[in-house]
Amino acid sequence: MIKTFKRFHIVLLPLVLFACKPMDDVTVAGSGVDDKPTVENAVKFVEQSEYQLAELGQEAERMSWVYSNFITEDTEKLAANASSKFTARQVELAVEAAKFNDIEGVDGDTRRKLNMLRSGIVIPAPRDAAKTVEQSKIGAKLGGMYGKGEYCYANGECLDLGHLSDIMAESRDPAALLEAWNGWRKVSPPMKDLYARQVELANEGAAELGFSDLGTMWRSAYDMPPEEFPTELDRLWGEVKPLYEALHCHVRAKLGEEYGAGLVPQDGPIPAHLLGNMWAQDWSNIYPLVAPPETVAAYDLSAILKERGFDAINMVQAGEAFFSSLGFEKLPETFWQRSLFVKPADRDVVCHASAWDVDEKDDLRIKMCIKVNAEDFNTIHHELGHNYYQRAYNKESYLYRTSANDGFHEAVGDTIALSITPEYLQKIGLLENVPDASGDLALLMKRALEGIAFLPFGLMVDQWRWKVFAGETGPEGYNDLWWQLREKYQGVKAPNERPADAFDPGAKYHVPGNTPYTRYFLARILQFQFHRTLCEIAGDEGPVHRCSIYGNQQAGERLNAMLEMGRSEPWPDELEALTGQRNMDATAILDYFSPLKVWLDEQNQGRQCGW
Ligand code: ASP
Ligand code: SER
Ligand code: ZN
Repeated sequence: MIKTFKRFHIVLLPLVLFACKPMDDVTVAGSGVDDKPTVENAVKFVEQSEYQLAELGQEAERMSWVYSNFITEDTEKLAANASSKFTARQVELAVEAAKFNDIEGVDGDTRRKLNMLRSGIVIPAPRDAAKTVEQSKIGAKLGGMYGKGEYCYANGECLDLGHLSDIMAESRDPAALLEAWNGWRKVSPPMKDLYARQVELANEGAAELGFSDLGTMWRSAYDMPPEEFPTELDRLWGEVKPLYEALHCHVRAKLGEEYGAGLVPQDGPIPAHLLGNMWAQDWSNIYPLVAPPETVAAYDLSAILKERGFDAINMVQAGEAFFSSLGFEKLPETFWQRSLFVKPADRDVVCHASAWDVDEKDDLRIKMCIKVNAEDFNTIHHELGHNYYQRAYNKESYLYRTSANDGFHEAVGDTIALSITPEYLQKIGLLENVPDASGDLALLMKRALEGIAFLPFGLMVDQWRWKVFAGETGPEGYNDLWWQLREKYQGVKAPNERPADAFDPGAKYHVPGNTPYTRYFLARILQFQFHRTLCEIAGDEGPVHRCSIYGNQQAGERLNAMLEMGRSEPWPDELEALTGQRNMDATAILDYFSPLKVWLDEQNQGRQCGW
């Protein structure tokens, strides 16, 4: 994920910082600008807001960095404090921006920025100062609870999420899987009341800014009327669903062979603990169980990295080298000095991978507890995609220093990761022989277990949150709703009865971390669309799943041209600039996987698919 304070929280500003002096005879609002609704004041207001937010965001960002790298009572308080100042300021400016709603003659950029100021807050607080502080405390507390989370076994051994995830990935013993799965979900019940209160406060904040609830506010960030956005998602999901269902059907059959139809009934949802991942969101760890048998054995990148003695730094260097091959400048020295690459032995940190740009110029960092395996190799490219994006748009003005829409930010590194092909691995000396076309099915299956398996999860997290924000269910119904949606979209079910106090959504980082999730669904669609285009630009004529843009500076330039635009244009314009298309288009992902779909359909003949 991307970590940047600007879209989360903002800080109260001492008047001293104002570059623009208010005149004596007019009312002066929080921005320091006369709020009489004139075009001139609107322009000044936007300028002031950007200046203030840029200055103040940095303080909050640094606090957040320290906190996430060193979770203690003190850093929790300091981070909460900085965040509450930031939010309060952000909300003040949002209220003020609304005053310029109705004036005519405002130029396009100013109008766009006024809208962004008004609706671009991920977690607005009520204007009541005590409530703002309360909200920030809750936010910091929830983040810490997740970061410090661990499960202790009866023998006294306590495992953190990293170790529990290893069990989920590697074990084939249903009892061990079940215990790790349930164990991690003991971390979240204490979050539930805090979360419910956070929802209440954020909704109050959204209402004060004129939104029916926080979900509507989140949905207004896509350059289209918020009520049209869910329809757009339904359209995309409808297009990819048959592919997901085919994968689900085959995987369920194979799991049935491994574990027996008693544990994996062949006509219902799959128990969520058998898919190789704590949230059943990425199934690549069970590849050996579902691999196409008649193809050449796929290479095992995790094993290769280990054999070659790769460590965390080597893996990041390989990621950097890929971007360099596209013509991107090397990462700054400070990136290597300031990033966190390995889980420290002696303190609590937030391990969930993130990318930072602390000064919004070149203070780029990642924070990650890297393990030497293929999944983390991918995630490194994901995070570096954020960093290169951040640097590309650093010359834009403050409010435009983000991606075209939030899905774009999540898609860049994932696009590059699609170029980690056997040919590429051979070029950099990690693979000796490139399998011929008979190896394609294996490659596609691996990719599908990451990307296709993820799609319904990427969608359902916010389907849940949107309903929660809209008040369709109260805390007593949180967990049931979660599992209804898990079943509806993913076709997975809880492996056992959930305890009465369960709060399973809290066991996924982005819920206590309050990070919107639809962006990851969009990213999965966009990444294949970007990849298709970049391969065309690179002049690759083979099948798109074998294409690597490694070393192609033309593709790099075209990608960079879009990244540099930040959020300065509506996303359809930016998408068009790169791909020639104005819509997010699922045909790219469908084309990419079409050989696999044919194969899956053959396998699934005679099976009863669906759940
Ligand atoms: N940073 C990634 C996501 O949250 C980490 C992951 O892929 O697990 O964006
Ligand atoms: N990085 C996101 C997650 O951790 C999407 O893969 O869920
Ligand atoms: Zn990300």
